[in-house]
Amino acid sequence: MATKILIDTDPGVDDTMAILLALRSPELEVVGLTSIFGNTSVEVTAQNALRLVELEGHDSLPVAKGASRPLARPLRQPGTHVHGEDGMGGTHPPPPHGKLLPMPAAQFIVEMVRFHPGEITLVPLGPLTNIALAVLLEPGIVSLVKEVVLMGGSAYARGNATPAAEANICNDPHAASIVFRAGWPLTMVGLDVTTQTVMTPEYLDDLGKAGNPATELIHKITPHYQAYFDQFYGMKGSIHTHDPSAVACVIDPSIFGTESMPVYVETEGRCAGETVPDRRRQWLDEPPVKVCLGVDSTRLLALIKERLTS
Ligand code: BDR
Ligand code: CA
Repeated sequence: MATKILIDTDPGVDDTMAILLALRSPELEVVGLTSIFGNTSVEVTAQNALRLVELEGHDSLPVAKGASRPLARPLRQPGTHVHGEDGMGGTHPPPPHGKLLPMPAAQFIVEMVRFHPGEITLVPLGPLTNIALAVLLEPGIVSLVKEVVLMGGSAYARGNATPAAEANICNDPHAASIVFRAGWPLTMVGLDVTTQTVMTPEYLDDLGKAGNPATELIHKITPHYQAYFDQFYGMKGSIHTHDPSAVACVIDPSIFGTESMPVYVETEGRCAGETVPDRRRQWLDEPPVKVCLGVDSTRLLALIKERLTS
């Protein structure tokens, strides 16, 4: 039976790849999308989420708009320099036909989890504000969620938004702290693994050659993202594989090597958003998190290519 997943997302170039991967994978049943600020404003990410479900012919899939700002800290600069003002690499695709649900993301998350007790895997690909708001709204969902598999954080790889913090956690450290402390089964797919898997220009060209609507969209929106990686990391057209890694971890967890340990989220000061791994288990007041530390990049890239191009 397919795993029911609810994707919380800020599309976003890599979110787009991740959502298309999920929608094209028979192991998964996507039950809805919720949007969040991050790579661009929540208004834009919500429209992009609608566009993506329509592109794959899932027009009736529910999409709910979420939070426009973090729980407690000021809104950081959006990731438009990475993903474009439109979150789609500056390509300005036509508006979607569909409408957003008339309820906020947090409420939709609560309703879906209650409706499918023990069955839903939450897959957050952006700042964790919607997920934290859902927990605050109905703490009972913690025991009803099957698991949480999120893209975010960094155990040993340091940060990408600041020297200490990965972008999704940095964008709302208080929300992340709530999510990491909730006590549900949680897997952190962070920079330790997502930066190990590199999509080269040749790999991206191969995707483009498939010529289906999914790969055509990816082919259009990726150059802006590649330019960012080149400017900041000198990657000459290659990119890291962030959000698709989290979806792949639900499809086939055997691609990743994990270690269970408490992870503390720093909420204040210069290191806000840092995810501190406690390998020696000294901070036992923090619940254990499955931290992805290894990845079979060859298998991961093959899986993504096979799903997107078929
Ligand atoms: C994360 O930050 C966002 O820019 C990406 O979409 C990804 O979710 C990587 O740090
Ligand atoms: Ca994202």
